[in-house]
Amino acid sequence: MPRSAVPDAITDLVDAALADLPQHRRDAFALRLERWWPDLHDAVAAVYPSPDDVAARLVTTAAAGFAARPAELHALDDRRLLNPDWFRRPDMVGYACYADRYGGTLAGVGERLDHLTDLGVTYLHLMPLLDPRPGDNDGGYAVRNYRAVREDLGTIDDLRDLATDLRSRGISLVVDLVLNHVAREHEWAERARTGEAAYRDYFLIHPDRETPDAYERTLPEVFPDFAPGNFTFDDDVNGWVWTTFNAWQWDLNWANPAVLVEFAEIVMYLANLGVEVLRLDAIAFLWKRLGTDCQNQPEVHAITQALRATARMAAPAVLFKAEAIVGPRELLPYLGQGRHTGRVSDVAYHNSLMVQIWSMLASGSTRLAEHALGALPPTPSSGTWVTYVRCHDDIGWAIDDGDAAAVGLSGDGHRRFLSDWYTGDFPGSPAEGLVFQHNPDTGDRRISGTTAALTGLGPSRRDPDGAFARLFLAHALTAVWGGIPVIWSGDEIASPGDPAWADDPAHAADNRWVHRPAVTDADRAACREPGSDAQRAYDGLAHIMRTRAGLPMLHAEAPVDLVPGLDDGVLGVLRRHPSGTLLGLVNVTGEHRPVPYDVITRHVADPREVLSHHVIGPDDAGLSWMPPYAAWWITESQTRLFTES
Ligand code: GLC
Repeated sequence: MPRSAVPDAITDLVDAALADLPQHRRDAFALRLERWWPDLHDAVAAVYPSPDDVAARLVTTAAAGFAARPAELHALDDRRLLNPDWFRRPDMVGYACYADRYGGTLAGVGERLDHLTDLGVTYLHLMPLLDPRPGDNDGGYAVRNYRAVREDLGTIDDLRDLATDLRSRGISLVVDLVLNHVAREHEWAERARTGEAAYRDYFLIHPDRETPDAYERTLPEVFPDFAPGNFTFDDDVNGWVWTTFNAWQWDLNWANPAVLVEFAEIVMYLANLGVEVLRLDAIAFLWKRLGTDCQNQPEVHAITQALRATARMAAPAVLFKAEAIVGPRELLPYLGQGRHTGRVSDVAYHNSLMVQIWSMLASGSTRLAEHALGALPPTPSSGTWVTYVRCHDDIGWAIDDGDAAAVGLSGDGHRRFLSDWYTGDFPGSPAEGLVFQHNPDTGDRRISGTTAALTGLGPSRRDPDGAFARLFLAHALTAVWGGIPVIWSGDEIASPGDPAWADDPAHAADNRWVHRPAVTDADRAACREPGSDAQRAYDGLAHIMRTRAGLPMLHAEAPVDLVPGLDDGVLGVLRRHPSGTLLGLVNVTGEHRPVPYDVITRHVADPREVLSHHVIGPDDAGLSWMPPYAAWWITESQTRLFTES
């Protein structure tokens, strides 16, 4: 046996902390400590001046979390360790919703799970549910207490019960972990405000404008409309507090190791309730560096690695999901690159794919998408993407100017076009989105709206049939890509959006609420009324996800390659897997578009289309014609699907 790198002092600490546990548990922790210690120590050494001390505190936290972990969750850890690819399999399907808007309370969500299981859902992201500040709280992203549930949703016991119930149905619970900031009303901020120096050091507070002004020179504004600037003067602390988002969301000082240890403890707490995936909110913003935009700094990845190594020791079933809505070049490091490969988040939002889907559907051209998505480095084998058509946030046009130029577009011009298209201002557009956070300085106009509203099924139903085709195409693309396709609540019933979104005074200034509609019992019943919009959308999405679950080539382990040289309205995605090849094709235009039959048979010799059951064959000129907005998944005709007996 090679000698363990774990220092004796750390082993002693752990022995003391776990003395009351049975031998097999102590052995399990010792093995994990040996496995994760190098990751942990390297990571803290990259950020903190006294790494030994910080690492010791994190191991102590992990040991305490491990000792407190319920037996049922230890068993889950064992199952996950035996199936490390569990979240990368093609039968993973995500759904994201607000508990109150789906089932009233956490218990109410638990009573309404059939709607999700029938859709194939195995991963449920319940939007922020921890105790937020009262009043405006950015949809719950201003947390007052990480160890309590939002009062109207229930209690911590309800959360534990729901997690247990979900687990018994094969659904993993996903909960937000807001790391970049806390509410001004959080205990740490309260204590900073009452003058406790130790807690003042949890935040970034400057006595005058000198430092804030220096940072502001290179900082963008996230909410230029309702929270301009990145600093807020607070009378209680008599200084300028760093507030990237709203004035009452106080950024944390991650250079202070006490903040890291606090969050490691919170991770343990949530993991031991049965939360299986932690969504690391706004993770890109964690580390500040003068002269930069204070996003995507290297320390962010080291901090994630430290937290993950800690979590792996105590609760290896738990995954980290990075919410980094950043440009295409910055995305990959969140799944691990270089020294962090395989050591940071397990899952990350594929923001670029999302943006390119909308760009293709508006422009009717796949050229930019092919270039931008084709230029992304390969995905590390340890992780995978959350692929999505839209989420609870606005859509920002994260299009790289270089990518645009490479296909003869101007970045600015294309972003302007997309905003015009999705607000419906561009002639011929069927979309009915709203402009979110117009920034006159940069010309930036982000977009709010449900998928139905952006595809032509908005309040005035400009193009219902086309909209359904586009809605299915977009989801078929997220489902063929590799990763966990996440359906955003409301999209499965083709909701045009919440018409009353502005009625709540706390929401009136934030039109993202238009695309956070409730899904009620009546909506769920409508999914079974033949011919209703809800039934069409629901059955269509369930069909896509069911088909996906049967296709081994859609396991995340199969690389994603694009097929070059197709018609400029057609995107081709190849998934090569030991069990065979799958060729995904989408026609992003409203016209029939050709695909040379020999291109299809070059990849799949005896093709069968398994998504729409279209019979593919060549015409006299050797072309297969794709109908408007068609999505085809083509495999060898003898491929045995998982779902076929
Ligand atoms: C994330 C959330 C967004 C929120 C922000 C600040 O980006 O998705 O809704 O406003 O973080 O917490």
